[in-house]
Amino acid sequence: MVKKILAIVSIAATAGALSVGSAAAQDAAKGEAVFKQCMTCHRADKNMVGPALAGVVGRKAGTAPGFSYSPLNHHSGEAGLVWTQENIITYLADPNAFLKKFLTDKGHADQAVGATKMTFKLANEQQRKDVVAYLATLK
Ligand code: HEC
Repeated sequence: MVKKILAIVSIAATAGALSVGSAAAQDAAKGEAVFKQCMTCHRADKNMVGPALAGVVGRKAGTAPGFSYSPLNHHSGEAGLVWTQENIITYLADPNAFLKKFLTDKGHADQAVGATKMTFKLANEQQRKDVVAYLATLK
């Protein structure tokens, strides 16, 4: 009897874990397809309209060698912005709003002006998660 109850509990726990997992899952293969939209401006290994994105996950904002950033993007890095996966996922929904909020929260409201050169927004949250999973594979 006890064994049977334990078995049921463990099945329920596994099912719970699986459903949580799939809601939060990131799919790098799907992200590679999403990244085609970024390729209008970005490549992994060279600066174009936008900075090179290989190694961007974990990188301080505004530091791709040789790329000329907007003051907004540059100052965010100076104020401590690091491109964690979570940050990029939020940023891609509205890059201007994200950078201005970051600078304001850090006490640099005076620098939260102007506009980022990244004019692209990705509204779909699942696509944002997937493309960031793909970015994490670009070393
Ligand atoms: C229309 C061109 C364009 C598109 C499309 C675009 N970007 Fe950008 N991106 C830029 C530019 C330009 C910058 C530099 C922003 C600045 O200096 O203010 C940038 C900056 C970034 C940064 C910050 C890099 C750093 O070193 O601080 C990330 C991350 C980023 N883009 C990711 C993406 C992803 C992911 C996509 C696709 C979902 C994408 N971008 C689509 C032009 C673009």
